[in-house]
Amino acid sequence: MKDVKITATSKVAANNLVTNNQLSKIMDTSDEWITKRTGIKTRHISTDKNTSDLATTVGKDLLEQVSWTPDKLDLIIVATMSPDYLTPSVSAQIQGKLGAQHAVAFDLSAACSGFSYALSVARSMLLANNWSKALVIGAEVLSKLIDWDDRSSAVLFGDGAGGVILETAAERHFVGQDLQTFGELGNQLTAGHIKNNTELSNNSFTYTPFQMNGREVYRFATHEVPQSIEAACKQAGITADQIDHYLLHQANSRIIEHVAKRLNQPLNKFPININEYGNTAAASEAILLAECAEKGRVKKGETIALSGFGGGLTCATVIFKY
Ligand code: ACO
Repeated sequence: MKDVKITATSKVAANNLVTNNQLSKIMDTSDEWITKRTGIKTRHISTDKNTSDLATTVGKDLLEQVSWTPDKLDLIIVATMSPDYLTPSVSAQIQGKLGAQHAVAFDLSAACSGFSYALSVARSMLLANNWSKALVIGAEVLSKLIDWDDRSSAVLFGDGAGGVILETAAERHFVGQDLQTFGELGNQLTAGHIKNNTELSNNSFTYTPFQMNGREVYRFATHEVPQSIEAACKQAGITADQIDHYLLHQANSRIIEHVAKRLNQPLNKFPININEYGNTAAASEAILLAECAEKGRVKKGETIALSGFGGGLTCATVIFKY
């Protein structure tokens, strides 16, 4: 059966590494609180680049790895909740910067589930259109959406990008998925609300910063993520034991531990890098996958579950053979 497979991975972190102790000098928090509640020790904050710059770096590196000229690309999808503009999309910006003139390019908005959603959409589009080559990237500069006076969210997030090359393959690689949206819970996590114009003049162009009901999202994640993984395993016709690595969205190490316990799986199947990167939303799974691939932690032929959760609220799992 014709399918798609991941043939290269890449990641980039933003320029400025910020420690918990540095944050404790500008807000009422501590390394102890952040580490104990979240597992985060540092995060990369961008002071020089926007989302499309980080995404373009990843795109260029991926093309170099596979030695393709940009005109070979059929599709570019960037998952992001922090684009440079409402329009043009980050994907269109990359398409232009890379010179990928034949690629269809658009962004996908599903917050921290965005990379799993994007892999699923890219796979469907490659197969439906008989295309063969896609760039799928998760990229965020969340620091521009953060209220730096709100300690409850400011300590959680980081900036970065990660991505993959997706290519058609003769044999099955993507074996199961579960994509879900819980729109009735959307107000539990919001960012960038654009207010309606009440008058024809005096448009102030204000956007609200990131706001989250942390406890409710925590409850949502620990409840929905195990179910989503089980549903994707069922579709794939495998059990949780047959997954070699669980690459979960890095929002909180306690959530990851909880999911491992619920699935009755050893924690060493759940690589964690939240300690360095913080929560990078749509970039988080892609950065983790690229890091695991670079370190040889995931190997060709192994079965991987990528699972994300967050704004929407959304939850998404894809299972594939790497
Ligand atoms: N430093 C010190 N104290 C703090 C801080 C801080 N940075 N932030 C909050 N506190 C205080 C609170 O004020 C509160 O104090 P009080 O008890 O005196 O009222 C206390 O710490 C406990 O606050 P909680 O919010 O109850 O802390 P909790 O244990 O729930 O941890 C956290 C908060 C880390 C946000 C957790 O709820 C969480 O991880 N939620 C899930 C987040 C998530 O998964 N998001 C994913 C999606 S993100 C996306 O889609 C972009």
